[in-house]
Amino acid sequence: MAALCSPTSEAIEAAAKALRSGQLVAFPTETVYGLGADACSDEAVVRLYEAKGRPRFNPLIVHVEHADAAADHVEIDTLARRLMDAFWPGPLTLVLPRRESSPVSLLAGAGLDTLAVRAPAHPVARALLHAFAGPLVAPSANPSGRVSATEARHVVDDLGTRVSMVLDGGSCALGLESTIVELGASPKLLRAGALDRASVQDVLGQPLATEAGGPVRAPGALASHYAPALPVRLDARDVAPDEALLAFGPALEGAAVTLNLSERGDLREAAARLFSSLRALDRPGLRGIAVMPIPEEGLGEAIVDRLRRASAPRP
Ligand code: TXA
Ligand code: MG
Repeated sequence: MAALCSPTSEAIEAAAKALRSGQLVAFPTETVYGLGADACSDEAVVRLYEAKGRPRFNPLIVHVEHADAAADHVEIDTLARRLMDAFWPGPLTLVLPRRESSPVSLLAGAGLDTLAVRAPAHPVARALLHAFAGPLVAPSANPSGRVSATEARHVVDDLGTRVSMVLDGGSCALGLESTIVELGASPKLLRAGALDRASVQDVLGQPLATEAGGPVRAPGALASHYAPALPVRLDARDVAPDEALLAFGPALEGAAVTLNLSERGDLREAAARLFSSLRALDRPGLRGIAVMPIPEEGLGEAIVDRLRRASAPRP
């Protein structure tokens, strides 16, 4: 099993060393836990895809310490620079034209002529990137298609035998993956996430088009994704005694077990609790998970997106 390590400077050095030798290291970010690998090593990237059980066509996000480091890998135009200045380090991933000179594994970019880059804000992620002194690919640290990990324990439960180390940074503050924006002729929102659409639009000075999962890019956008083992039923106005209830606001009564995303109806609190609550309600012997209605505004856009995928017909 992977060692669960408190993120001391020794542990971070050891993690950077493990990464340099092609091993996988899970680490906390402000959004969700990432499963890190050396972005420039095909071998490490293959190991990562194997550990995730991820379809090979799904490209990975290249994590960097800051915008200057991103400039080694992608073309940064004025708009991209403006977004980086406003939101980095933080939960915004930008899809930008790949520089031919970038040493990032072509496999990591799934052969596309763009790369997704992000500078995470979590101090442990930053310390690890600094110690490693290079780009890391880091998909969410969960088996492909399943609920993302927001605590170190989740990673050990799901991937414990497949990673060398898990750096424990407590629960992730935001709890939802980064927002993914592709810049180009018209900026597109590829994945709603922890940074709400309006904040990005304010800085861009223009609206974001929504791209509902293109053919290859499909960001976390396989119809069924983020799924617990139990079936998920959305917009529940009632609940059965053999169902688990994921409540929002004042909870319906009569469920076998209830967890509330936010009693006071706060979307930020709900986002932070979403994945850990889905995991906690995913218990054998129940018929399914009923989810109360959640408004699709602000962070609600990303929360409802994840819940729709969790409730979609399974492949
Ligand atoms: O918050 C996050 O972004 C987390 C933490 C660990 O940083 N990472 C994460 O990675 O969610 P992952 O691999 O689970 O999701 C990456 C998404 C994928 O759905 C992929 O399709 C999209 O990013 N993506 C990566 N490169 C892309 C590209 N060149 N064009 C379009 N989409 C891309
Ligand atoms: Mg994921």
